[in-house]
Amino acid sequence: MVNSIASPDLAGSATLRPGIKAPVQETLLTPRFYTTDFDKVAQMDLSGQTTELESVLAELRADYNRHHFVRNAEFEQCWEHIDGETRRAFIDFLERSCTSEFSGFLLFKELSRKLKDRNPLLSEAFALLARDEARHAGFLNKAMADFGLSLDLGYLTKKRTYTFFPPEWVIYTVFLSEKIGYWRYILVHRHLEQHPEHRIYPLFRYFENWCQDENRHGDFFKALLRSQPNLWNTWQSRLWVRFFLLTVFVTHTLTVLERADFYESIGMDAREYNKQVIHNTNETSKKAFPSILDTHHPEFFPRLEKCAIANQKLTEIANGQGFSLVKWLQKLPWIGVIIWQMLRLYLLPTIDAEKFRGQVY
Ligand SMILES: [Fe+2]
Ligand SMILES: [Fe+2]
Repeated sequence: MVNSIASPDLAGSATLRPGIKAPVQETLLTPRFYTTDFDKVAQMDLSGQTTELESVLAELRADYNRHHFVRNAEFEQCWEHIDGETRRAFIDFLERSCTSEFSGFLLFKELSRKLKDRNPLLSEAFALLARDEARHAGFLNKAMADFGLSLDLGYLTKKRTYTFFPPEWVIYTVFLSEKIGYWRYILVHRHLEQHPEHRIYPLFRYFENWCQDENRHGDFFKALLRSQPNLWNTWQSRLWVRFFLLTVFVTHTLTVLERADFYESIGMDAREYNKQVIHNTNETSKKAFPSILDTHHPEFFPRLEKCAIANQKLTEIANGQGFSLVKWLQKLPWIGVIIWQMLRLYLLPTIDAEKFRGQVY
């Protein structure tokens, strides 16, 4: 899963032909498709973490979920009873997740291909990561088909713009994406285990093993990150991880709160879910990053909430009538609110993770 700075906006969706859903319009929150400097990745010195990388590679080779993503008989029924707002929110959730998984597949596949003759260990690992993400995206796309829609992944591959990220940014953001993906899936799974009456669709039964894939992917990127000392033992690295943690958490908050209906439809409180995902992902990041955010700071969630309100206003303006210049002027103050709140959040005190290094978690 690669969804750190991502989430599609259903506004502007259209269908290409019956049953094939056009990709959503690209917005600030849309899942990105990434490319990077493959030569630089090929030249990375991994010697500091060879044992850790080999051990995650062995886990990936074991392919524990080989037989997991097989649709059982429970899927074979009509899903028309999921209707109205719940249906819209659920399809939105499926599409966003499918696009994120597919984005991960494309990046990992390309990394594997480009590193084939230059770094066999990384090339094999990326091929195995791509295998998992292809399964995830395919499984989600089949779920969309149950609702009469599917994403044209070939179209998506060709038409989406690719954002260039240097390898360092890719490592930070993919590590975070995989770990936040793990927490997103496992928390939904745990909730539905306790409240099976809200399991509206069998997909959720697959989340427990599924999230273990994301956890392993995250562990691989953790080893990759720790193999590059400049990614954790410099003052610049402390500023970067603060930036990426914050960006991922703001994006997650905006996405979850904007789609609170979906979480309500499965009996979850979107705000509480968002908090749990963020607290846990932040804590997990301690294992890889030199510092993490203080998500328990009293200003932390209220400021995120202000960003979410501003985002809601931006969506309302975008969906409203009027000339684009007028809309642009109307949007400016709300964009200002988000930038200001993010700046204040960025300047909150952080927690040093290096001093915990070596302790057992
Ligand atoms: Fe995935
Ligand atoms: Fe993943």
